[in-house]
Amino acid sequence: MTSLCFAKVNLTLDILSRHPDGYHHLASVMVNISLADGLIISQSESEEIRFYCRDSSVPGGEGNLVVRAARLFYEAADGMNLKLRRGLDIHLEKRIPMQAGLGGGSSDAATALRLINRLHNSPLTAGELHQIAAELGSDVPFFLTGGAASVRGRGEVITPLVDTPPLWMVLVKPDIGVSTAEAYAALDAIPDRESQRATHKMEAAINKGSAEEIIMRTGNDFEPWAFERYRDLAILYDDFMMAGCINARLAGSGSAVFGMLGSATHAEKVARLMQKKYSRVFIACTVGRNEALQYE
Ligand code: C5P
Repeated sequence: MTSLCFAKVNLTLDILSRHPDGYHHLASVMVNISLADGLIISQSESEEIRFYCRDSSVPGGEGNLVVRAARLFYEAADGMNLKLRRGLDIHLEKRIPMQAGLGGGSSDAATALRLINRLHNSPLTAGELHQIAAELGSDVPFFLTGGAASVRGRGEVITPLVDTPPLWMVLVKPDIGVSTAEAYAALDAIPDRESQRATHKMEAAINKGSAEEIIMRTGNDFEPWAFERYRDLAILYDDFMMAGCINARLAGSGSAVFGMLGSATHAEKVARLMQKKYSRVFIACTVGRNEALQYE
């Protein structure tokens, strides 16, 4: 079985209260974008889960979220006394930059869960897959729903939204990396920090179907901290605005930044300008739910 694993951007990211377990309550609107990895999963004669990726910077074995997804799937099936034949060959084609805030690893893992379940004629319910996804990471449950969705809780409460109109964007992955755990800890250290609370208005803009309003209402609570802590990110943001973007945002907790434009032609023009200075530049458009969940 084959599927694309689409990346995401957060159109909004409100970081709210901190739970005693260290995780944060958040409110966000996430949307799939056309930048995607490729995943091929087939059953094999061996009893092993074998993982292949041409990109040597992608960890193999248990360090890989796709392998962990496969193991957790079979553990859940064992717990339900389902006798599934478990030899798998998994091939990943990595195109989404890592450590970027674009959810690449999470999308790969969610796609693996869907494909493996289909491969065995869907023995696990959507609810059971969702539970495994939440265990794998806070961003993983969104990718089981895909398209555009509101995300709350620590990331596991998903409300599907209607598809957005096509939104064009240019993304740049700078060389610096941002640690997600450090980013959350840094926000906790800011006294009396208030969230921008951009998510409610974004949901309304999406229901209205207005691309202009969606672009103007984007927000990300990590930005004030990230742009001060990493000067290169603030410069990258300015470069996007100078290049003619309508708006620009940090992706998740970084380190990718994306600029938003009104058309594919404008996106191509901005991408050409950004390529003069940056090496990892991507053009993408939002992807609707049906396309995001397709497989063969
Ligand atoms: O769940 P995941 O492994 O993606 O989270 C990475 C880190 O991000 C966590 O260790 C935690 O520090 C932080 N996090 C958080 N609140 C969330 C999601 C993530 O504090 N809702």
